[in-house]
Amino acid sequence: MARERWSSKLGVILAVAGSAVGLGNFLRFPIQAARNGGGAFMIPYFISFLLLGVPLMWIEWTIGRFGGGFEHSTAPGIFQTLWRKSRFIKYFGVIGIFGPLVIFVFYTYVESWLLGYSVFAVTGKYAGCTDSQSMLEFLRGYKGLEVNEHFSNLSAGYLFFLATFAVNVGVIAFGLSRGIERFCKWALPLLLIMAVVLVIRVLTLGTPDPAHPDWNILNGLGYLWNPDWSALKSGKVWLAAAGQIFFTLSCGIGVILTYASYLTKRDDVALSGLTAAATNEMIEVVLGASLIIPAAFAFFGTVGVQDMAAQGWDLPFVTMPLILQNIAFGRIFGFLWFFLLFVAGVTSSISLALPAVAFLEDEFNLTRREAVAVFAVVAFILCQPVIFFVADGVLDEMDFWGGTVGLVVFGTVEAILFAWVFGMERSWSELHVGSDIRIPRFYRLIIRYVTPTFLLVILGVWLWQEWWPIILMKTVPPEQKPFVVMTRVGLLGLFAFLALMVHIVWKRRSLLPQVDEETPA
Ligand code: ALA
Repeated sequence: MARERWSSKLGVILAVAGSAVGLGNFLRFPIQAARNGGGAFMIPYFISFLLLGVPLMWIEWTIGRFGGGFEHSTAPGIFQTLWRKSRFIKYFGVIGIFGPLVIFVFYTYVESWLLGYSVFAVTGKYAGCTDSQSMLEFLRGYKGLEVNEHFSNLSAGYLFFLATFAVNVGVIAFGLSRGIERFCKWALPLLLIMAVVLVIRVLTLGTPDPAHPDWNILNGLGYLWNPDWSALKSGKVWLAAAGQIFFTLSCGIGVILTYASYLTKRDDVALSGLTAAATNEMIEVVLGASLIIPAAFAFFGTVGVQDMAAQGWDLPFVTMPLILQNIAFGRIFGFLWFFLLFVAGVTSSISLALPAVAFLEDEFNLTRREAVAVFAVVAFILCQPVIFFVADGVLDEMDFWGGTVGLVVFGTVEAILFAWVFGMERSWSELHVGSDIRIPRFYRLIIRYVTPTFLLVILGVWLWQEWWPIILMKTVPPEQKPFVVMTRVGLLGLFAFLALMVHIVWKRRSLLPQVDEETPA
């Protein structure tokens, strides 16, 4: 079967940028910035972008394209091609299928709330909710956590989930260029237009409450952009900033490798990786930063911004609709807000689904449709505990193991593999094959020494400070503990199952006549 390919350079850049641009840009970023003191966050954030984000983008694009030359689209095979002598490295690669699958499962559910709310915004279903409390009640009713005047059960929420799931599976089923690439080609420009319209509206809000003249958009922007150098001393802020860079760029997840594996040997990776990263950052720091934080500041002041940060994933469903309801054409702006997030979410979640699908195609010789069908059944089953036990800590637990720990471990492994195992000399020339730019040489030193050290320090500090309290569930409320334990057992089982599949595939392969694994096709 001929290997699928991207149909254009713009298409692959938009697909990678689409994977990167997601809920992280418009939600997670403002939450992290607000939780970590606004301006205090931005310096570690930019440093992490330059020392972790950009190098990891290049690393993932390069090793993905390299592994694709051996018909491997996912991390187990790609890692094995970089370190052929190792017997265990492919099992580290399992994180690159496990992580995206786990994130996909909860991410798609949150995405479905956005679809539901874009419909509610237009129909005015939440229009009667005029304060945070009633907005929260509305959300609880929607999630099936309580029966109230708005919802008597989970059926509306479940229907929107089914629709969202179907959109995701449908796009992937159409394949790489006819599905993902085509979808991202219209989705990214569309979401850019929606974001620009919303930003213009927010930036022209002025001083909405005359009783509080200092609650205005300018001060809201100042909250984020006035630098606070003292933050450079805070380990917590560094961790949060580095974590945000991983999440927002989709680095360390395993998805960029898979996208890059469909490039041909002579396709550029250096400029394309940089362009995709820069596009994501432009959308995050220019557009993402100009929405919730300044708007919340103008309406609710500093305390309001801090309260907002405490809402976590509930944030877009409470603060923004309250604000947008208070302006002219609020229903239209409400729709734009939720639909923007929905579209941004889909361009990311399709990329999260791809590694598992590609693994089935490459290693089990399934057709795209067969692989998507298997994936859909498994992912659908895995989504059910998230939907039905959403209040019991299941979602947060999956976010933590799949979306945080997995990313940092995976990023560390691939940085070391690239710079130290495959070797900087070979890696650097591989990165420049077919390249449209020459990367400044100081980045060679950064990739070799700074990026892996930075990652090891983050991992070490994190293990030192947090490992035991997390393992012992010190911060988990007692009533949630059984659910958290079950989630952990389930995740461990899923990981073991994927590792077993990798084991079987390689066992089978070792029985076949050996092909030359030195030179990519
Ligand atoms: N990179 C994706 C996001 O920012 C996962 O939401």
